[in-house]
Amino acid sequence: MTVRNQFDIEALRRVGQVVAETLELMKAAMEEGIETRELDAIAARNFARHGAVSAPRKTYRFPRETCISVNEAIAHGIPGGRRIRKGDLINLDVSAELDGYYADTGYTVAFESDDEELAKLCDCSRRALRKAIAQARPGKKLSHIGRAIENEARANGFAVIRNLTGHGTGGALHEYPDEIRNYYDPRQQGALAKGMVVAIETFVSTGAEWAEETGDGWTLTTEDGSRAAQYEHTLIVTEGEPIITTRLGA
Ligand code: CO
Ligand code: CO
Repeated sequence: MTVRNQFDIEALRRVGQVVAETLELMKAAMEEGIETRELDAIAARNFARHGAVSAPRKTYRFPRETCISVNEAIAHGIPGGRRIRKGDLINLDVSAELDGYYADTGYTVAFESDDEELAKLCDCSRRALRKAIAQARPGKKLSHIGRAIENEARANGFAVIRNLTGHGTGGALHEYPDEIRNYYDPRQQGALAKGMVVAIETFVSTGAEWAEETGDGWTLTTEDGSRAAQYEHTLIVTEGEPIITTRLGA
């Protein structure tokens, strides 16, 4: 969506803060042996406390409140009985709707891991998100965001997942622009404009470039077992620094 007035901005901030707080609560609850559905239950309680609803459940009938993807799963994992173990790479993707407004955020944790490559992967993906957000100014093309992410990944010896992308959001979970790719695609000529609400999400991988579907109809994985780290923020484009609605305290 494109924000029309201060009311829109405040409502986007409110839902942004709900998902940011929910993500923090889930991160804080991570411990050896906890089931991913227990983390999801924390989100359910926090959404309910604020009168928010899970965006993937509302939009796509996703079977849980949040997506939790562990190790070989890189996105859209369904919370369930899997227990978190030391060394796991865990992605939490949290998005919600409140009063008709949407926000989408994501974060990856290498849980109590001493694997240096995983730490480097997470650092790289987080840095890529920062650099991509720095491109989010009126008049910048979507391809500039993709280029920032791809350059950061390649400079660190990593790849990007080509079929998982950022997107417009705010008035629906996914809306125009439908795809903000994680690589430089000269066909992505669409430009950002003042007031546009977008979710930028970096999918940096240890090698694979494609996410593959699995048998449950939701979970995505890589064919060769590559690991991936995703970080995501929702932001409102302004003339200056964008407003990152999903940053805690925004
Ligand atoms: Co997300
Ligand atoms: Co998203």
